[in-house]
Amino acid sequence: MSTVRRDAAVSVRPMHASDIAQVMAVELENYPYPWTEGVMRDCLRVGYSCWVMEADGMVAAYAVLSAAAGEAHVLNISVAPGRQGHGLGRQLMEHLLQAAHGHGADTVFLEVRPSNKVAVHLYESMGFNQVGLRSGYYPSEQGREDAIIMARVLSDISS
Ligand SMILES: CC(C)(COP(=O)(O)OP(=O)(O)OC[C@H]1O[C@@H](n2cnc3c(N)ncnc32)[C@H](O)[C@@H]1OP(=O)(O)O)[C@@H](O)C(=O)NCCC(=O)NCCS
Repeated sequence: MSTVRRDAAVSVRPMHASDIAQVMAVELENYPYPWTEGVMRDCLRVGYSCWVMEADGMVAAYAVLSAAAGEAHVLNISVAPGRQGHGLGRQLMEHLLQAAHGHGADTVFLEVRPSNKVAVHLYESMGFNQVGLRSGYYPSEQGREDAIIMARVLSDISS
């Protein structure tokens, strides 16, 4: 597994409603089929584990995790385009794994497009393995794209 580069200039904190404008700006830049602002607000409202990574007073990345009944699901993890490739995604995912453990989860699940090579590489390097495939799950320019379902057990995470 690759080493997590810890950037002292960034910090992870809970997402607040006042972050939504910046979070949505990144969401719209990063995804051809982005979440709506309403979905993002609902995640906060229902109490999902929502995080932002801040750098220079700006939202550099954010993530949303749901956790219940011993399972956690990474619903979104997204690094601002200008900040990608500098270890922030890995650092934020490490934080999510700790948060999932703190919520009592023993397994973390996520879904990813097979075409998203950077994300698949990141998840595999962090101990996620493919456990399933949802056929034609995502919209895409070619019609539909499968979703790889990946899981990571948390047995090695200490309290
Ligand atoms: C996927 C994403 C969260 C990864 O975050 P990141 O900060 O860019 O990634 P990191 O810098 O932590 O790097 C993670 C790994 O991917 C590799 N990587 C990063 N950017 C890359 C690029 N442009 N091309 C190839 N590999 C790349 C890194 O080398 C690193 O692997 P290594 O540590 O073995 O060298 C981020 O790129 C992103 O937000 N993408 C758009 C939204 C998205 O696709 N989210 C995931 C949905 S499932």
